[in-house]
Amino acid sequence: MGQAETVKAGTGLPLYWRVCLINGVVFLLGTVALALSPATVSARVLVSEAIVLVFGLAIIVTLNSLLLRNSLAPLDKLIRMMEKVDLQHPGQRIPEHDNGAVGHLVKSFNEMLTRLETERRMSNAKALAAQEAERHRIAQELHDEIGQSFTAVLLGLKQVADRASADVLPEVQLVQEQTRAGLEEVRQVARRLRPGVLEDLGLHNALVALSNDFAPAGLRIRRTFTPGLPELDSDAELVVYRIAQEALTNVARHAQANSVELSLTRKGNDVVLSVKDNGRGLRGQPEGAGIGGMRERALIVGGDLELTSGPTGGTEVRLTLPTEGSR
Ligand SMILES: Nc1ncnc2c1ncn2[C@@H]1O[C@H](COP(=O)(O)OP(=O)(O)O)[C@@H](O)[C@H]1O
Ligand SMILES: [Mg+2]
Repeated sequence: MGQAETVKAGTGLPLYWRVCLINGVVFLLGTVALALSPATVSARVLVSEAIVLVFGLAIIVTLNSLLLRNSLAPLDKLIRMMEKVDLQHPGQRIPEHDNGAVGHLVKSFNEMLTRLETERRMSNAKALAAQEAERHRIAQELHDEIGQSFTAVLLGLKQVADRASADVLPEVQLVQEQTRAGLEEVRQVARRLRPGVLEDLGLHNALVALSNDFAPAGLRIRRTFTPGLPELDSDAELVVYRIAQEALTNVARHAQANSVELSLTRKGNDVVLSVKDNGRGLRGQPEGAGIGGMRERALIVGGDLELTSGPTGGTEVRLTLPTEGSR
C-alpha cells in the first residue's frame, strides 16, 4: 500500500474551526472587494450587473473550494489507505506528520492496526495450537487403538496361517498382506498428523521422510539442505514442516509436475524454505484454505510467505523465517 504517501502537515486547529475560518476569510474578502469596487446593483438587475455578480460568485466558490481542499484532502487520502490495508500483510502504517485532527485520526488508526495485528496473531496461534493438539490426540489414538487392533489381527492370522491347510493358505496369506498394508497406512496417516520425527530426529529428517511420502506419486524430488543452519525454535520448525507438507500436497494435487525441488537454506540470518515444482503454474487460481493456512502459520512466527509462478509454468512457495540472529 502507499506507505510513501504522506498526509500533509497542517495547523493544530480542529477541522471544524479550520473550515469556519476559511469560509469566514473568503466571505470577508468577497465583501471587502464588493465594498471597494465601483460596482452597483440596480433595483431591477441589469444584464451587465448580473454578469459581474456571477463572475464574483464564481471567484468566491473557486477560492473557497481550493482552500477547503487543502484541509480536507488528507482525510480522503486516509480513507483510501484505510480501504487498502490488508491484515494478511502486517506492518502497513500511515506516516504521522499532521498534528491536527487528521494527524490524531492517523495516529489512532495506526494504533488500532497494531492492536488488530496482535490480536489476530494471538488468536490464530491459539487456533493452530488447538488444531495441532487435536491432531496429536487423533494420531495417538490411531496408533494406540487401531494400530493395536491391526497388530492383534496380524498375530491371530499368523496362528491361523501356521495351522492352515495348503488349499486355504494362499488366501490367509493374502489377508495377512492386506492387513499389513492397512497397518502401514494407519501408521502413515498418524505420522502425517503428528510429525513425531520432528521431535525425535529434527526438522531435516522430518522433511526427508515427508518428501519420501510423495515419491510414489510419481514426483522426482531434489533436496538441498544447507548444513549448520541457524537454530529454529520448535514452533518455527513445526511451521516449516506444515508449510512444506501443504506445498508438496499442492504439487501432487494440482501442479501436474514430474519434479520438485525442496530446499532449506539460509539467507543472511534468515532460514529459507523453498518448494519449487515444474508444473503448470498457479494460473491466477484463487487462493484456498491451504494457501491461507500457510500464510497464517508464517505470520504467527514472524515469517514471510511468497508464492510465485513463472510465465511458462512452475510454482515456488518460499518461506523466509527470521532467527535469533536476524532480530
Ligand atoms: N503447485 C501448484 N501448482 C499449480 N496450481 C497450484 C499449486 N498450488 C496451488 N495451486 C492452485 O491454487 C489453488 C488453491 O490452493 P490451496 O489454497 O492449497 O487450496 P486447495 O489445495 O484446497 O485447492 C489450487 O486449487 C490450485 O488451483
Ligand atoms: Mg492445498
